[in-house]
Amino acid sequence: MDDESRTATLTVNGQEHELPMYSPSAGPDVIDIRKLYAQTGLFTYDPGFTSTASCDSTITFIDGNKGELLHRGYPIDQLAAKSHFLEVCYLLLYGELPSPTELEDFESRVTNHTMIHEQMMYLFRGFRRDAHPMAIMTGVVGAMSAFYHDSTDVSDAWQREVASIRMIAKMPTIAAMAYKYTIGQPFVYPRNDIDYASNFLRMCFAVPAEDYEVNPILSRAMDRIFTLHADHEQNASTSTVRLASSSGANPFACIAAGIACLWGPSHGGANQACLEMLREIGSVDRIPEYIEKAKDKDDPFRLMGFGHRVYKNTDPRATVLKQSADEVLELLGVENNPLLQVAKELEKVALNDAYFIEKKLFPNVDFYSGIILEAMGFPTSMFTPIFAVSRTVGWISQWKEMIGDPQMKIGRPRQLYLGATERDYVDIEKR
Ligand code: SDX
Repeated sequence: MDDESRTATLTVNGQEHELPMYSPSAGPDVIDIRKLYAQTGLFTYDPGFTSTASCDSTITFIDGNKGELLHRGYPIDQLAAKSHFLEVCYLLLYGELPSPTELEDFESRVTNHTMIHEQMMYLFRGFRRDAHPMAIMTGVVGAMSAFYHDSTDVSDAWQREVASIRMIAKMPTIAAMAYKYTIGQPFVYPRNDIDYASNFLRMCFAVPAEDYEVNPILSRAMDRIFTLHADHEQNASTSTVRLASSSGANPFACIAAGIACLWGPSHGGANQACLEMLREIGSVDRIPEYIEKAKDKDDPFRLMGFGHRVYKNTDPRATVLKQSADEVLELLGVENNPLLQVAKELEKVALNDAYFIEKKLFPNVDFYSGIILEAMGFPTSMFTPIFAVSRTVGWISQWKEMIGDPQMKIGRPRQLYLGATERDYVDIEKR
């Protein structure tokens, strides 16, 4: 932030108040309202945080008008094309691209933390077999604080580092176990001789009855999907992790809170909802009917995978995923996938419709991801768990940044109270 010499003048009831202003390295200037209540007795009002910067950060920058997404300054399309997920994890966690030695050491540390405590297996058995994998992940990740006591003291930098590596390393294992449990197949242990994305695919799709060779096309597509979902500034689940962590709660409990928030259909749950919507539409000739439903104020139906709080132009991740969908489905020999045809036609029709143009609604990250994941063999119930596996590094990076800030304070918003003012209790005989 620049110096505090610039101010904004707020005039209330004829009285002027000077509020400091800061300029970022990119994006809008901010007005510092931290002393507003003390100075004026006033609150600001911003449910949904449409105009509120909740923190300062150096991790991810989004320009919604340009459709730009940078991780530590590097554009997402370059990272998706030239990097790989664990290198992006290093970049998000430590701020710079690693040297070959640093990358080898980081990958080794993650690889050697992929197994979970053997006793945790019994947690899965407490769930019904038809439990949603996100329900299982929320429970099992929260329970990690009962198994990894030696990395729950957030005031200890070394314990924060260990918890970070453990979370990134173990999430694929937990997600794969949740999947295996719901389909009644035995758990598959991670291996140390294959890469992160291949390990996840193998833990999901291998069975003891035969050898499993990871298809390099699928592992590259999996790795790219992990890269594209890794972090996204102060979205709802990241803000949940930050707020939970601001009380000093242990990192595992806070990541479990992030998983719970991500599950919502307006957020990370949209990838599952989008594929179910495409399946319900079923064919190109039914698209106009659904476009009208999406525009009808009296109809709660929304085009899942469309719209975004920040992006008012393209979501750059959707652009990369659309290209990947074409590549992966062609390489897998399913390029005539009817859902892909419906998705492409739906995008074309919506982007030429006055309602969507006026409201600046474009495909977001969840619009094409489900088509790729389904072609790779995942059921829709695994789409959001895969989003959670990837976003764990974003949650952890933002958590480390906040917890490591000596200025950190517990998050405690106020309210615009519209309820009853003080009144006396009425005995039941008199009601
Ligand atoms: C993610 O924040 C992030 O960064 C999230 C994310 C990440 O990486 O962390 O990018 C991941 O969550 C992507 C978004 C996935 N969600 C969906 O695809 C669900 C469908 N989209 C919507 O529910 C909605 O667009 C949101 C939730 C994504 C954004 O909602 P906003 O910013 O609160 O906007 P809004 O609901 O106020 O909508 C503005 C207008 C409204 O019309 P009016 O009331 O002004 O008349 O646009 C309309 C909405 O009705 N609208 C839609 C629509 N999305 C918004 N109309 C039809 N279909 C849609 N999808």
